[in-house]
Amino acid sequence: MLPDEQLLEAAERFGTPLYVYDAREIDAALARVRAAFGDARVFYAMKANSNFAVLRRLRAAGVGFEAVSPGELARARFLGCSGDEVIVNGPAKTPQEYALGGEIGATFVVDREEEVERVPAGARVLVRVNPALDVSTHDHLATGAPVSKFGVRLDRVAATVAAARARGLHLRGLHVHIGSAIRDASDFLAAFERLAGLASTVGELEVLDVGGGWGVDADLAGIARAAREAQAAFGARELWVEPGRYLVATSGTLLTRVVGTKETGRRFVLVDAGMTELLRPMLYGATHPVRPLWAGADAGLFDLAGPACESGDLLARDVPLPEPAVGAVLAVGQAGAYGAVMSSTYLSRSRPAEALWDGEWRLVRRRERPEDVWRAELDAETVTA
Ligand code: LLP
Repeated sequence: MLPDEQLLEAAERFGTPLYVYDAREIDAALARVRAAFGDARVFYAMKANSNFAVLRRLRAAGVGFEAVSPGELARARFLGCSGDEVIVNGPAKTPQEYALGGEIGATFVVDREEEVERVPAGARVLVRVNPALDVSTHDHLATGAPVSKFGVRLDRVAATVAAARARGLHLRGLHVHIGSAIRDASDFLAAFERLAGLASTVGELEVLDVGGGWGVDADLAGIARAAREAQAAFGARELWVEPGRYLVATSGTLLTRVVGTKETGRRFVLVDAGMTELLRPMLYGATHPVRPLWAGADAGLFDLAGPACESGDLLARDVPLPEPAVGAVLAVGQAGAYGAVMSSTYLSRSRPAEALWDGEWRLVRRRERPEDVWRAELDAETVTA
């Protein structure tokens, strides 16, 4: 996390709630990925943080993108990405996504057998495999479990590959992504071994895409070793990876100001950010480190409660803090991934501003205004579709 003074300067200058990112942290995370994965091609899962400033920085460093919605594809097109730079993923792609991805010339991930008939003629494709494994993460974050909606069942992969080839698609390889926020290399090893078991039926491949899913403190070296073994089993020339969280989580901090305190059965510090700014604690029970940006003797443990009229609107529990004064600033860490992008306009709240530190502060998304939130309703009076 950036030093207190710099964070306070940003809060002063841009207001709170505010997301701030340290560009150097993104560079450092990418360097760690490259150190572990060598010449593997990196496709950043832009769902983690699709701010153009982040996308531009990663793209300039040679990173491609994984996109899962019309909006994400539109971002890639806006940036002028070529087909080589974009993977189109998602379990329920719409005609709009096939058209946009086709226009760019992207590689499509076939997520179910029937999709072989949907992707544009001649498209480059990967077939996503569901390895049917339970992994050590939150239920909502597991994507390769037997009950997950993702991927093609192991016993249908060979048929799907054959169907793709028969339709004249350019079958580049297989794809697997077992879930998110996983630390342990053994989960990846188990999944990649299941995948490698398909080598005898599927034959040689150009590409093996092992997805992302790495927690911020994941064992990258162990995951990379497991991936290389699977790559070798298929004789695949290229290894592709799709990290989201790992590249951006630690770069980001949510800054929020103290509005007041209150004691009921618990001790609360009331702040100006909550579930509408950072949903992860409420949705996944996620914990984010909290640092007070003021000094003082420890005044006990506080729950960080947001402004929403919802009891679940807590950013953290049992945080040790010095006595909070109104207007003091708290820094909520590891918020660079799935933070700003999952913020909402519930309660007609304006989504927060975002700023990037790169030797100096730069505003990279202005704070929304109430009019931004209701604009589409007023437009409906003049537009019919
Ligand atoms: N590739 C695919 C196909 C994915 O579905 C995802 C994430 C990624 C790559 C990147 O995963 P990562 O490296 O970021 O773990 N909103 C949740 C995370 C959902 C992740 C969904 N898919 C959260 O706040 O933790």
